[in-house]
Amino acid sequence: MPNASFDQRCRELIDHLTQTRQLKGFYEIAGPMGPTVTLADGREVIVLCSNNYLGLASHPEVIAAGHEGLRRYGAGTASVRFICGTLKCHRDLERTIADFVRTESSLTYVSCWNANEAVFPTLTDAGDVILSDSLNHASIIDGCRLVGRQVERDVYQHSDLEQLETKLREHRDKACRWVVTDGVFSMEGDVARLPELVRLCREYEAMLVVDDSHGVGVLGSGGRGTPEHFGLLGDIDVLTGTLGKSLGGSAGGYVAASRRVIEVLEQRSRPSLFSNALPAAGTCSAQRAIELVRDDPGLVARLHQNVARMRAGLAELGFQCPSSPTAIIPIMIGDEAEAIAKSRRLMELGVMVIGFGFPVVPKGEARLRVQVSAALQDEHLRQALDAFARL
Ligand SMILES: Cc1ncc(COP(=O)(O)O)c(C=O)c1O
Repeated sequence: MPNASFDQRCRELIDHLTQTRQLKGFYEIAGPMGPTVTLADGREVIVLCSNNYLGLASHPEVIAAGHEGLRRYGAGTASVRFICGTLKCHRDLERTIADFVRTESSLTYVSCWNANEAVFPTLTDAGDVILSDSLNHASIIDGCRLVGRQVERDVYQHSDLEQLETKLREHRDKACRWVVTDGVFSMEGDVARLPELVRLCREYEAMLVVDDSHGVGVLGSGGRGTPEHFGLLGDIDVLTGTLGKSLGGSAGGYVAASRRVIEVLEQRSRPSLFSNALPAAGTCSAQRAIELVRDDPGLVARLHQNVARMRAGLAELGFQCPSSPTAIIPIMIGDEAEAIAKSRRLMELGVMVIGFGFPVVPKGEARLRVQVSAALQDEHLRQALDAFARL
């Protein structure tokens, strides 16, 4: 490397991670994402760590829709949306998303990371304040970091709505107050206290932004997400979400909101103005995935059944898992090296569960994160629980 001190910096970091047994491994997978996957070495393992909550990533109709998108529209747009990068399938998908989550309009991005990076710098203005839950996803944190210096940013303790109310009161003189939360928190698996958040935001005339990446397709009997779970469909000012989890598992993200908010994002958000549009294959796969969720309530019901079985099975084995309706079940370990060792042991037993440590979760709060999918059959659940028993 041309710069020796940079080279040394990189080496020290990797050496440190290796010595403290924190180095992340990357498993190579040689086939589609399903209840099981085949690894590059030919071994088949049960997957309890993907976001493929509804099992649609390898659904034949989702794959066929992607093929058809590729055939009809080609590999990609070779353009950003406003130049010549808006395909009919983008508009179809955006109408379908808006209708599904019950907003007036929506806009897609190449990821929800991008969607969150679009929302805050575009929609906020000088004199505003953003109040963010302390456990919000990294993409929300980074999205908030992109706002101008005249926008104040503050954090309230996780789901501490008394503290949030105090801050909303303190910021009453601001031009606009913004409250932002995950719908389902990705590392804790708990659900935002949406009814109280909606009430507070109305009382203090604040805009509520909810990232429902882990809620959509999972919560509510129709899989419409955290707002449906609480009977609040249509009551959230700005919803963001991913197409890379329940809704087909490919890639892509969206903002769903009023027509006016979407118009502003179309005109001004930098990830849309300066980055290529979502490729057609993923767009069409997501379209079919949402139609499947919308038209077959049995899909979401199957997920809920599997979640209940996995939670009950882990509890019977003595694992202390916080109760929650979501498909994310954290098993707290504490020490990062131990969490990684346990995840390796589970892998040896044929079950893929990842151990998470710093910087994904705070230091000392390492955990295994179990994620349940509707695609898991009874036999998979039984085998997985056997592996946990042996752990
Ligand atoms: C809450 C939340 N928001 C956003 C994202 C990013 O989604 P994407 O993969 O579409 O960028 C994730 C992904 O892990 C997430 O968990």
